[in-house]
Amino acid sequence: MPTTPNTASTSDRSGNQAEPTAKVSSTAHAEPASPAGKRPAPPCTLVIFGAGGDLTKRLLMPALYNLAVDGLLDDGMKIIGVNHGERETKEWVDDLHKSLQQFAADKASTFHAGKLDDKAWDWVAQRLEYMAGEFETDDVFTQLKQKLEKSSGGNVIFYLAVSSRFFKPITEHLGGAGLLKESDDGKSGFRRLVIEKPFGTDLASARDLNEHILSFAQESQVYRIDHFLGKDTVQSILAVRFANALFEPVWRREYIDSVQITAAETIGVEGRGAFYEQTGAFRDMLPNHLFQLLGMVAMEPPNSFDAEAVRNKKADIFDAIKPLTPDDVVFGQYEKGPAGVGYREEPDVAKDSTTETYAAARVFVENWRWAGVPFYLRTGKRLAARRTEISVQLKPVPFRLFRDTPVDALTPNVLTLRIDPAHGTSFDFNVKTPGPVMQIGAVKSSFDYADFFAERANVGYETLLYDCMLGDETLFQRADSIETSWAAVDDVLHPKTGGAVPVHGYAAGSEGPAEADALLARDGHAWRLLREEATPEKK
Ligand code: BG6
Repeated sequence: MPTTPNTASTSDRSGNQAEPTAKVSSTAHAEPASPAGKRPAPPCTLVIFGAGGDLTKRLLMPALYNLAVDGLLDDGMKIIGVNHGERETKEWVDDLHKSLQQFAADKASTFHAGKLDDKAWDWVAQRLEYMAGEFETDDVFTQLKQKLEKSSGGNVIFYLAVSSRFFKPITEHLGGAGLLKESDDGKSGFRRLVIEKPFGTDLASARDLNEHILSFAQESQVYRIDHFLGKDTVQSILAVRFANALFEPVWRREYIDSVQITAAETIGVEGRGAFYEQTGAFRDMLPNHLFQLLGMVAMEPPNSFDAEAVRNKKADIFDAIKPLTPDDVVFGQYEKGPAGVGYREEPDVAKDSTTETYAAARVFVENWRWAGVPFYLRTGKRLAARRTEISVQLKPVPFRLFRDTPVDALTPNVLTLRIDPAHGTSFDFNVKTPGPVMQIGAVKSSFDYADFFAERANVGYETLLYDCMLGDETLFQRADSIETSWAAVDDVLHPKTGGAVPVHGYAAGSEGPAEADALLARDGHAWRLLREEATPEKK
């Protein structure tokens, strides 16, 4: 993660210095931090396996375009798209252009750039080349090798934007063709491998995949993506925690009562029924995206933004998670409701499917800072609202002072870090209401990014691609963390006793299954409402 402190220069892990960045003030409507001060990434060839896929169209191309707009790509960059099926480069490029224009014009799309900057698009388009090939045959790798030998610089990123069943064969072929080899003196340029999610489906498969990949590449060449870490609001968790004196002193079990981490979606499985049937909400979101959020909230302060410094602290958290048992989780599946049909009516889904579309968990981190503090995690499709956020609830204060007043109870302080779709933070606290009597009113103080900074069209992959080109692995998953995360949930996926975790119904468009409420009620807690802000009404 390239850091842009107020006045200092930015530097990556290799210590290369960038120009000083613009100062970001904390007053309203401050100038946004300009990326113009950052240096362009080094020249490289980006080889995208899965050039015809959704990820390439929706996220990688918009991200490359945004990086081009910001002038962060080197003129020597090339992008080779590999996919099965013969096509002319021009046809591929025209298709990408059309999609980009559609996304740019669509306010609901993450890439709502408005009108495309033709100059930036032409810059990207001139560097695109399509290559037809089957991912499991030697042919395509031999051809690739010839192409790459001719390209300048020798730096290559292989991006596996493909179904996870191709991760092993593509890596094996790349390794077999010598395409992952870097010379010891580093003069031949870098070779990096970007691997998308899902990285395994449980501990055994993740270990096996790591072992396979690491027999062809060094750990330092492997960039395992969790796209949540590409979100500015997620990266900002460390800034909120460690750039302010207010939070860190109370950020511990002595003061924190509980933490809720929510990734609620209103969409259903969106034509991904076949994938989802095999995956389910728990595997899709919990040991990866939600654990990453947990890691950012719970980690100890690192001494620097150096990739290993940050990843070591996060790894400590995954390692300290008390292994979950089936008793710690609740699964749900949406049924017909106000938001539409039930999951079993979706295309490519079995009529008697028991795949969960909702998962909630009660997680404990067994270390000195967090022992005894429950972290409640939940995620689901077709819920009442789209909301990704983290709410940190503080412990109640002593009540004695208010005993002889009309106050019967105090609302707990809650700091909410809003990740999506709202970007910002809010803090619930208590004040005296106006008037002669000591009455307490619960109020909310909010910060919204849009009120302070110009919104930038950002699909979340810009930083990830740029960091990979720079060789900064801070925002990528290390093999050990992937495995400890899967290890923490292995007993839920493969219960040692009893059967599979039961799946409870919930109405499409609701707050989730009632059993998830019971999971928190056991501890005297309740989920924050999705549909409405859990805030007091303005009087
Ligand atoms: C993906 C999951 O990794 O993350 C999807 O496979 C989910 O099922 C998505 O919808 C959520 O990401 P975001 O950025 O839209 O919150």
